[in-house]
Amino acid sequence: ELQAYNKLHEKLDDLLATLPKDKGWRSPNIFLHKGFWLTPQAIKGLLMIDDYFHPRSTDIFLATFMKCGTTWFKALMFATANRHRYNFSDHPLHHNGPQSAFPFLDSHIFLDYPVTKFDHLPSPRLFATHFAHSLLPTSLSSPSSTCKFVYVCRDPKDVLISKWLFMSKLRSKELPPISFNETYELFCNGVSEYGPFWDHVLGYWKASQESPEKILFMKYEDMKREPSVELKKLAAFMGMPFTAEEEKGGVVGEIVKLCSFENLSNLEVNNDGGGAQKFTAQLVVENRDFFRKGKVGDWENHLTEEMRERIDSITETKLKGSGLTL
Ligand code: A3P
Repeated sequence: ELQAYNKLHEKLDDLLATLPKDKGWRSPNIFLHKGFWLTPQAIKGLLMIDDYFHPRSTDIFLATFMKCGTTWFKALMFATANRHRYNFSDHPLHHNGPQSAFPFLDSHIFLDYPVTKFDHLPSPRLFATHFAHSLLPTSLSSPSSTCKFVYVCRDPKDVLISKWLFMSKLRSKELPPISFNETYELFCNGVSEYGPFWDHVLGYWKASQESPEKILFMKYEDMKREPSVELKKLAAFMGMPFTAEEEKGGVVGEIVKLCSFENLSNLEVNNDGGGAQKFTAQLVVENRDFFRKGKVGDWENHLTEEMRERIDSITETKLKGSGLTL
């Protein structure tokens, strides 16, 4: 297996040499692979998923573009799936950052050698991914696969601000800082990790239209506005609907409260004394960096009117005729 693993690295190097590249927000370069901008590590993750990941028919994926609410939905899905195992007064989410609630497939598959195969996880397994729908292996994405996807999207203006601030924190100190104006231009041109944003959203939107039983398309803003309604939808889709008794007993409200920005961001583990999440040997992110404001519309504090208009017009043009509005 070590030989196959080393071969994969050779394949990765050969592939990278053929791909167009552009400026990364936190790393020197990102590469355009099958229509999406990815870091070399993410491309390695894709190759490894192709070679080593064996889906189970009961797997459930949380798919997001970066900064659309991965941390929040990880907490919600974990708390929902495990609500019969844990007590809300002493819950694992009180002591562990939500990012560690279940694996981020894109990089955890190669966190260390030997390759992680996730065979030890009980069903239904939960995974998170940032990969665009068209990049996923057909064993996961084809309508005949019974794996489920929860996709979460968010207003691209808030995504841009959140991502810029997050990536600036992670950006290597050896690189010159990247200005907001430059990031904004790159974002509008689709050049950011896992982007273009609009193609990412549209890929999952179209797939969810074709197979609604396989992909649940959700919005950050809806979960903010009506968390109980949205959480009930989420649980039912996961095949774990709340019973009338649970609803009466306040379980939905307990999960909403446990996973709220106010609660999670104030826990020590997600704060100054908190832990960190290892994504790759080079990329370790402190839990607190996944919590900033948790608001809808913070872009108003950062974007000029002209910038807002340009992003809104890209969104309108890209989503035209799809039936989706953002
Ligand atoms: P802001 O930077 O706008 O505050 P991701 O988890 O996909 O990386 O997204 C991070 C964004 O979700 C950040 O947005 C973060 O503050 C927000 N967030 C994290 N936890 C949240 C929660 N429990 N409820 C609502 N928003 C949350």
